[in-house]
Amino acid sequence: MKPLLIRDGQLFDPGQGINESWSLFIKDGVIAWLGKTRMMPPQLDCDVISAQGLVIAPGFIDLHCHLREPGFEEKETIATGSQAAARGGFTTVCCMPNTLPPLDNRETVEFVLAKAAEGVAVRVLPVGCITRGRKGEGLVDMAELASAGVVGFSDDGDTVSNPDLMRQALELSRKLGLPVIEHCEDKSLSKGGIVNEGVVSARLGLRGIPPAAEESIVARDLELARLTGGRIHVAHVSTRDSVELIRRAKEKGVTVTAEVTPHHLTLTEEEVANHGTNAKVNPPLRTRQDVEVLIEALNDDTIDVIATDHAPHTVAEKSLPMEEAPFGISGLETAFGSLMGLVYAEKVSIETLIARLTAVPASILGEKFGKLGVLEFGAVADVVIFDPTKEWVVDPDAFISKGRNTPLAGRTLKGKVMATISRGQLVYKDDSLDLNTPQDNLRGRW
Ligand code: DOR
Repeated sequence: MKPLLIRDGQLFDPGQGINESWSLFIKDGVIAWLGKTRMMPPQLDCDVISAQGLVIAPGFIDLHCHLREPGFEEKETIATGSQAAARGGFTTVCCMPNTLPPLDNRETVEFVLAKAAEGVAVRVLPVGCITRGRKGEGLVDMAELASAGVVGFSDDGDTVSNPDLMRQALELSRKLGLPVIEHCEDKSLSKGGIVNEGVVSARLGLRGIPPAAEESIVARDLELARLTGGRIHVAHVSTRDSVELIRRAKEKGVTVTAEVTPHHLTLTEEEVANHGTNAKVNPPLRTRQDVEVLIEALNDDTIDVIATDHAPHTVAEKSLPMEEAPFGISGLETAFGSLMGLVYAEKVSIETLIARLTAVPASILGEKFGKLGVLEFGAVADVVIFDPTKEWVVDPDAFISKGRNTPLAGRTLKGKVMATISRGQLVYKDDSLDLNTPQDNLRGRW
């Protein structure tokens, strides 16, 4: 691809404290220059995006999504999921191992990495299983999977219910320097549950999932992380008491990080009444009070990152009765727009929002893949350009993801990704954004 000049946007990198009306020049996959346009030497052999009125930020990093390949290609593939990610402004996504076969062996991890290397839109990093076959009975060869290239370990969709196995996994995680990403759910408490246990489950006559199903495992795993010194990352935190447990563990110095999804930050259990199976997600959407505490936790560093838990399913599966339909929301393409609602409601600052989608998840991944989540000279050119004020209506039929399962259909969101550049390549561009070549008459005026 030709070099790309992104001109005169609001360059915004809260990780570095940059918020300037600047331009960015991308060449050979890296950020070759950034600053005021008129300070730049003329570059005529390049493409130009005029970013006036737009924000240029580091590409978003999603530590938790489901790309379904191998095994469930009817729901998503690594190629479609990474295109959907690009449309959502993400340049790095970590894919969960609940595939078929699961990512519990070197061959399957290498299969994912090979697919990810086939020129897909964004960087795809696999998460390996904690237990063989995700059965909770014996640990995978964690060192082997680490050497194959996994960025963490998770039985996502299931908890490791045996505490001794979890203890061993955390001990190994410390040695390997990789996080154990725990899906916290005591299935003996949640079994058969569909929605949050409370007034809505009672009103709709649906079986509930009590907050304690999550909190009991969060409490256990924080203790095990304290015991072992291992790295625990709590996936999709959904309840106020989980937040409190994580807050206290952080105060005690436990090595814990935590994530929250856009849907748990913006929607409540009431959505199930209006959107049925498209609002059926695990953990379930909770109460308004939980949502408020999750937002507070994002603001005070108790929760580190926002991760989509993008979980695409087919229309046929989501058309099943409530009891039988699978859990999950297809979230990559709506994440940014829905989160901007929190900024407009003055609940989260734009700095906090962008940091928790960029620099903070980058710090959890470490520097193995170069310096991610920053806009700086020489860094890999992973960039998003967004229009913070553009309104758009969510139309699942227009999703790039194969998963159309969203409770946001028909909703107007304010804030839209206009272009995404991954490793120096323009991998997504909104139809309304022009890509130009420089005019000769600009020569010498840059
Ligand atoms: O809603 C969910 N869907 N939660 C999970 O933990 C798993 C995911 C899936 O794989 O569909």
